Amino acid sequence: MEERKWFKEMSVYQIWPRSFCDGNDDGIGDLKGVLKKLDYIKSLGVDAIWFSPLYVSPQADYGYDIADYCDINPEYGTIEEFKEVLDRAHALGLKIIMDLVINHTSDKHEWFKKSVKREEPYTDFYIWRKGRGKNGKKAPNNWMSTFPGSAWEYNEERGEFYLHLYAKEQPDLNHDNPKVREAIKNVMRFWLDMGVDGFREDVITQISKAEGLPNGSPFMPASRGLSHYDCGPHIHEYLAEYREVLKDYDAFQVGEAPFMTPKKALTFVNENKKELDMMISFQHMEADCIMIEWMHLPFNLVKLKKTYNNWQTMLFHRAWNVNYLENHDHARIISRYGSEKYRVESGKCLALMYSFLSGTHFLYQGQEIGMTSLHYDKYPKGSNPWTQFKDVSTFCVRDLMRKFGFSEKHILKVATTAARDNARTPVQWDSTPNAGFCSCEPWFTVNPNYKEVNVEAAEKDPKSLLNFYRKLLALRKEYKDAAIYGEFRIHLKKHKHLFVYDKVAEDGSKLTVILNVSEKPVPCKKVKKFIPAGAKEIISVYDGSFAELMRPYAGKVYYTPVK
Ligand code: NOJ
Repeated sequence: MEERKWFKEMSVYQIWPRSFCDGNDDGIGDLKGVLKKLDYIKSLGVDAIWFSPLYVSPQADYGYDIADYCDINPEYGTIEEFKEVLDRAHALGLKIIMDLVINHTSDKHEWFKKSVKREEPYTDFYIWRKGRGKNGKKAPNNWMSTFPGSAWEYNEERGEFYLHLYAKEQPDLNHDNPKVREAIKNVMRFWLDMGVDGFREDVITQISKAEGLPNGSPFMPASRGLSHYDCGPHIHEYLAEYREVLKDYDAFQVGEAPFMTPKKALTFVNENKKELDMMISFQHMEADCIMIEWMHLPFNLVKLKKTYNNWQTMLFHRAWNVNYLENHDHARIISRYGSEKYRVESGKCLALMYSFLSGTHFLYQGQEIGMTSLHYDKYPKGSNPWTQFKDVSTFCVRDLMRKFGFSEKHILKVATTAARDNARTPVQWDSTPNAGFCSCEPWFTVNPNYKEVNVEAAEKDPKSLLNFYRKLLALRKEYKDAAIYGEFRIHLKKHKHLFVYDKVAEDGSKLTVILNVSEKPVPCKKVKKFIPAGAKEIISVYDGSFAELMRPYAGKVYYTPVK
């Protein structure tokens, strides 16, 4: 039986602060805005808030480039305002999870500035190397950053290159240096002592690099060198050390883990050797692409089911994981796995699909009202379309594709559906100008569909996706023995449109989830046999029975009690 823990039963609402709610009307989301919306967040039935980075940052990667770990970005507010949010959230029964970005800092962090000048103890806080070649201006190895381009940047003042696995403004910390690890532990204690309940740890599986930094395979066009820093040689040691900090607090850790597989995950989140409580993995986000959304393919439900089956069956006897469909790094899910034509229906269907899987449930701002991707191609002809994008990785991938000779038209088309910008438009609160986010010019484009898609409209409509999520999150708890802790059993593995699974509780009661994840109607006879006699329907995308045909994105969940 799965060990029961409070954090396993949670649903976590992710706030990407810049676009959540603007409380001081300067066009940028902030903590004042968060304060105004705490009751709304609570009303969803979630249990915790994860804040994407709120810290001081020049915003080269919108907060994932931290210049001071122990203070709040002035655009977002003050540390006093953060404490007020924390207290009010706690009073409402909401936990607070901070983003801990420790693979790298900003190049504007004091540690980095001092490291450039070789001021102790910061000289070796980062990964510095002499260049190769006659004049020493050739990068120390052939690694490429995740935001494509070389992973090395030359610093004139120090006369050396520094490693950056992300943007050049994000130098990698040298975790091999015990003083770096000590500094990070102090940051963790700072927030835990203030009362936060846990950390989401950014690209945490990349913090240990192979000794000697050997060249990566030349055939890798992006992330070259990955095998030398993905789950590197000291990763378990360092994570165990950071884990020690938590033992004095009732807090938890979720690690972001690109390229994670269930087998590898077990070495981090195993019940007997727990370096992290759970991980944010990516394989289920690859059902319409090869590794990243920029290498787009048609949505493939069979591939998605296979991934879910692997994770659900391999992991959950011994470990735990995260279930999510959206965050600030992926285009909106309705625009990817669902259908904008059936926006509400596909939103509901996808919500049913992932909310009854074992794992801690995550929900991203705006997902609950069915926000969609932006579609930059709808902008006026003749304007420079690239000015519509803001994300550093969009520009890096664009430049790489240009280098490989892709046409501008093609690159733009791909960016339109794949760019992370799609998930970062301001939350649509109502139908007033700028979607009620602010009354001045917002920092980023508001999706033009805000008049129809907004929280106020969804509140008024009992059949909205918003109200569906509320019901769903309550059911997930009510039927937690099956929904959260039950055993996953999949049917019709190879069916292109149907996703049918049972979640069976230890006492034999079960939930049966039946979904048509497509725009194509499917004959109802295909699924009838999976509906157990005596089962009770607990939630449905459409009113009424499946009748003869399962309509586009139809879906129902049934509960069967113990016989
Ligand atoms: C993962 C974060 O989710 C993403 O937004 C960021 O760009 C990279 N890590 C680098 O910190």
